[in-house]
Amino acid sequence: MEPLSKIISLADRARPLKKSNIRTISQAVDEVGGINLGQGICDLPTPDAIKERTHAAIDADQSIYSHHAGIEALREGILAKAQEYNDLPATSIDEVVVSAGSTGAFVTAVMTLLQEGDEVILFEPFYGYHRNILKLTGATVRYVPLGGPEDTFDPEVLKAAVTDRTRAVIVNTPANPSGKVWSRDELASLLAVMQEHDIVAITDEIYEYMTYDDADHVSLGSLPGAYERTITLSGFSKTYNVTGWRLGYAVGPDRLLEKMGLMNDLFYVCAPRPLQHGMLAVFEDLGDDYYAELLDGYYKRRALMCETLEAIGFDVPRPKGAYYAFADFGPIRDRPGFSNDVEAADTLIREAGVGSVTGRSFFHDPSDGVTKLRFCFGKELSVLKQACDQLLAAFG
Ligand SMILES: Cc1ncc(COP(=O)(O)O)c(C=O)c1O
Repeated sequence: MEPLSKIISLADRARPLKKSNIRTISQAVDEVGGINLGQGICDLPTPDAIKERTHAAIDADQSIYSHHAGIEALREGILAKAQEYNDLPATSIDEVVVSAGSTGAFVTAVMTLLQEGDEVILFEPFYGYHRNILKLTGATVRYVPLGGPEDTFDPEVLKAAVTDRTRAVIVNTPANPSGKVWSRDELASLLAVMQEHDIVAITDEIYEYMTYDDADHVSLGSLPGAYERTITLSGFSKTYNVTGWRLGYAVGPDRLLEKMGLMNDLFYVCAPRPLQHGMLAVFEDLGDDYYAELLDGYYKRRALMCETLEAIGFDVPRPKGAYYAFADFGPIRDRPGFSNDVEAADTLIREAGVGSVTGRSFFHDPSDGVTKLRFCFGKELSVLKQACDQLLAAFG
């Protein structure tokens, strides 16, 4: 078939777009009737309290557009959570925008802050949507690696990446794909650079309720002097198993959030109204036991996933947060079918019926991910167990 760009003149920003590796793998897994540990979708059930309130909102015809920044009651719930859980010095619902998922909030944040000629710093391994959405703004992305025994950044490398055009930095904690949870000290060291060079941070904290062992979630915006230059993003997708509902939010200083709200209006008008009402259950019905149970389940899944991959010869750093194992098959690279990440992902689908994501999807230089695969353990335990049994049967 003739390429579309030969028939129709596409915008420069659309031309390089291609089906993501994650979607290609999902398709291949479906074709063999396998289990997909690739895409970061948790298939656990949505809490009943959320479903009941949403049914009630639909029955009550809560169907018209809401305020472009979200219904007041939901923004109040988010504000209280941002104060209590994230320790952010937010004081008013004018500092909250509800969007079409945290992805929608990320889009409105970067479209509000960045333009061609600007530079933005992205730590890697990165979440692909961050990189690809940043590129749509026309800004130049500068990469700073996270890694080494301490899984951190070199402050000198960070400083060297900053120029007089640097406008923003992206922080993802807990991180996809590595499971890194940023410490207070790391955030303070980043903040010092932000303050010196007048840089704004956009933090993606979508996995904030999933931290393990001695890791604690700290929001950059809670550090003294940080809030005025930080947009904190989170959402409901991962914590309440509603990835398809598209509800997320941003919290930050009101002057910035006012503009973001207007940008949100242009892109989405508002987040889905009845679902906003349903989500009030998070603040009014769910208690601490919900989060304790969630974490307990993820501890079990993490152990099962990591121990299985170790048993078949992968090197598996234990993720401190989120629900991914970012595993290295370097130790078994001489086995047939494991020469690089693309081949290894294919081998796992063909021989074990298990989908994963290629390591190169998370680095700007593909060779940095050549011995890595990402596995999502946000699955029903029985499904995850089945996938692990299949991996052991094929490669154990
Ligand atoms: C780091 C990160 N941010 C955001 C998202 C998407 O969140 P939402 O569903 O709120 O748009 C994902 C989903 O995989 C993610 O891994």
